[in-house]
Amino acid sequence: MTTFKDFNFKSRLAYAISRAGFVEPSPIQQQSIPIILEGKDMVGQAHTGTGKTAAFALPILQKITQKDGVGAVVIVPTRELATQVADEFYKFSRNLNIRTATVYGGTSYKRQIEHIANAGVVVATPGRFLDLLSRGKIDIHPKFIVLDEADEMLNMGFLEDIRRIFTYFEDREQTLMFSATMPDEIKELAHTILRDPQFIRVEKEAVTNNNIKQYYYVVDEHERDDAMLRLIDTSNPKKAIVFCRTKRETARLSEYLSGQGYKTAALHGDMEQWDRQKTMKSFRRNEYRILVATDVAARGLDVRDVSHVFNYHIPFEAESYVHRIGRTGRAKRDGIAMMLVTPHELRELKRIQKDVGSELQFSTIPQKNSTLEDRMKTLFSMVKGQRTKKTSDVILEALTKNSDTNTVANKLVSLLEKTLIETSGIGKTDEEVLLLLNDIGNDVESENKKSSRKYKERNSKKSSRHGKQRRDGGKIKRGTGRGEIPIPTIEKVGNSRIVARKLF
Ligand SMILES: Nc1ncnc2c1ncn2[C@@H]1O[C@H](COP(=O)(O)OP(=O)(O)OP(=O)(O)O)[C@@H](O)[C@H]1O
Ligand SMILES: [Mg+2]
Repeated sequence: MTTFKDFNFKSRLAYAISRAGFVEPSPIQQQSIPIILEGKDMVGQAHTGTGKTAAFALPILQKITQKDGVGAVVIVPTRELATQVADEFYKFSRNLNIRTATVYGGTSYKRQIEHIANAGVVVATPGRFLDLLSRGKIDIHPKFIVLDEADEMLNMGFLEDIRRIFTYFEDREQTLMFSATMPDEIKELAHTILRDPQFIRVEKEAVTNNNIKQYYYVVDEHERDDAMLRLIDTSNPKKAIVFCRTKRETARLSEYLSGQGYKTAALHGDMEQWDRQKTMKSFRRNEYRILVATDVAARGLDVRDVSHVFNYHIPFEAESYVHRIGRTGRAKRDGIAMMLVTPHELRELKRIQKDVGSELQFSTIPQKNSTLEDRMKTLFSMVKGQRTKKTSDVILEALTKNSDTNTVANKLVSLLEKTLIETSGIGKTDEEVLLLLNDIGNDVESENKKSSRKYKERNSKKSSRHGKQRRDGGKIKRGTGRGEIPIPTIEKVGNSRIVARKLF
């Protein structure tokens, strides 16, 4: 087993690493740390929650000292990430006397400039950093420049800013880049701003983290809130993030869940910086158990013990799905991801599933009245209160012509029980979903081929599992008979028993 001792870090750094409880380096750390220590440029790709931050922070801290001024600049896409990456540096650097400054928009220039003047490491978002540089407010000569979440910065339209930032640092010694995917623009950027970079990719079978169990539930649009509440009630998360598509939806759902007795907070890009930070801090400290957020919280955020990620709405892109669910199951822990989809969104779900090569299992929303005792009580009062009709005599006579009364009564009770469960339930049953899937069946196949090719090109990632999944993709074909329904597996999720079926 490789341990952190093998890297021969200076004693104060080694002490901080063991104080942090790190013993074994993760695969991305094992591969990148020696390359960075050797002085080479590198590009790293690895799964969510596998320790990319320490993969660059530790060798950087090994190689810089406070007396040389700003030794490293780390550029990240969001303000929350800036704070988090700075905290990770702080964890390892407090005994090294290396200070960290964060730089992002929405706060005072003056204080940031003062902090930079005293810092060894600067963690910045591109806009404000470029602003300070181009106005000549700071004059720093870092050895290291790191781009974290490079593909997200591209998505957010920061590419030009980043290119311009690099023109101020011609004298840097090493450039490091971390990115979840490798679209052409990022590859091109790597080849223009990095010098002879080493490319590291930690392969796993699928794009998503295997420690995360993934489920989806099919509901009608008007059932979303109830379904979400039921899922939260029954899975009893230690800590959860609920992802929505829009800021408005985030604020509304957070209010709804609060009204139902859950301590929740909303997080979205329109909030004041101070509020955003306060919310994240409270969430980390367990003052809220549930954070309702837009994709602003999908990338990179590392909050301990997030046991569940709920997708209130399916994300627009397959990539966002990977990052959203990657907020749980971090540092080898287990996690559960649940997603609500409407029948209309099943196509999108299929596409996401194929693109990311991950396994989402269909599940039914746990029913409130599902214990036998509950059902008996309800049935009993229904039967008791039911007036008999004239026609029922005739029907009963016809029914008992070929069977004895006991059998007929038994069948009628079963029928009632079934109707009772179906009408009190939220969401679609497995039979209903199977029919819906049959409907979309084959025509999705050809669309999938197109979209998976696109993703593959962007991601330039190919794993054997991927290929297999694609070939198996059409498992559910039109006209699949009842006999071909996959065998249900019983899963225990939280305190509820859920019948899960692998449908794709
Ligand atoms: N070798 C290690 N041993 C134990 N814990 C670790 C180790 N490396 C990192 N961690 C912890 O794992 C968590 C995830 O790390 P980090 O945020 O760097 O992941 P990431 O790969 O950047 O994820 P993302 O793709 O979501 O940005 C952090 O809490 C970090 O402190
Ligand atoms: Mg990260």
